[in-house]
Amino acid sequence: MRKGLIIQLVVLGVIVGALSTLVAVFIPWLPELGSEEGGRIDDVYWLTTIISLAIFSLVAAASIYVVVKFRAKSDDDDEDGKPIHGHTGLEVFWTAVPATLVTVIAIYSGIVLVKNEQLPADHRTIEVTARQFAWAFTYPDLGVTTGVLRVPVGEKLELEMESEDVIHSFWVPEWRVKQDVVPGTTQRYIVTPTKLGTFPLVCTELCGLGHATMRARVEVLSKADYEKWEREQKGAAAAGGAEQGKQVFETAGCGGCHTLGAAGSTGEVGPDLDKVLPELSEEQIRESIVDPNAKLTPGYQPDVMPQDFGDTLSPAQLDSLVEFLAGAGKG
Ligand code: CUA
Repeated sequence: MRKGLIIQLVVLGVIVGALSTLVAVFIPWLPELGSEEGGRIDDVYWLTTIISLAIFSLVAAASIYVVVKFRAKSDDDDEDGKPIHGHTGLEVFWTAVPATLVTVIAIYSGIVLVKNEQLPADHRTIEVTARQFAWAFTYPDLGVTTGVLRVPVGEKLELEMESEDVIHSFWVPEWRVKQDVVPGTTQRYIVTPTKLGTFPLVCTELCGLGHATMRARVEVLSKADYEKWEREQKGAAAAGGAEQGKQVFETAGCGGCHTLGAAGSTGEVGPDLDKVLPELSEEQIRESIVDPNAKLTPGYQPDVMPQDFGDTLSPAQLDSLVEFLAGAGKG
């Protein structure tokens, strides 16, 4: 009788365990891994998943068995089960097992956190500014601020993060590491990107009406491409004026939406700059960049162009962009 019960429980447990393991393993719950630190975080995730699967199988097997075996007969209206009180062995068991598991997870997570926060003294630092509702990235060595985070692959980086208003949270799903950005403090975020490509940066702290739109692009470049981009930024910054402005036009992604012969861009989402620029003064060009809804070109909708270039570009970058565009408008 007792042996029969154990066999039935084990069979049920194995079936439930197998089904839930299939769900855990064969559904891609997470995007492809893109950082060294993320690999360790995935290990913690798998450790807790395996523990959860084991406990779930145990509980589900017992529940299914009890529901089937002790189902009330249709004519059984009022018979309750025998009251049972106190079972020291059982209580010790279900206190000791969870306590041990939670301790194991805590120690393992602690080790992962310490490893993930190790940073060589000689490392690259990029400043991240969060504000409602945009991200800005400043490269102190280059004197450049952009709305796109560009980083070299395979290098351990530090992001120094500050918020100008409320709490935001920095998350690149492929990197796994997530960090709240709390106003009044500087948060450190350490990451070693391992995968080339373009990834989304998402704000994961409800920070106001525009929270859902608080996204940015992350580009992980090869060492050579990153150094090339750095050289271009340095060269443009040194040259200043219209030349820097052309660089800003490309870096900020203006060409994705606007056609402009002087920059060789053919975007068609926004107004054709070759047509509209000749009619605009420098002041009007500046206003169209900083506050694009102020005056709309007939036939174009408001809120399509980002509203935050006044924040994501440094004053020098903005000046040079205006100078470049004014020059392009004069032909
Ligand atoms: Cu910033 Cu949500």
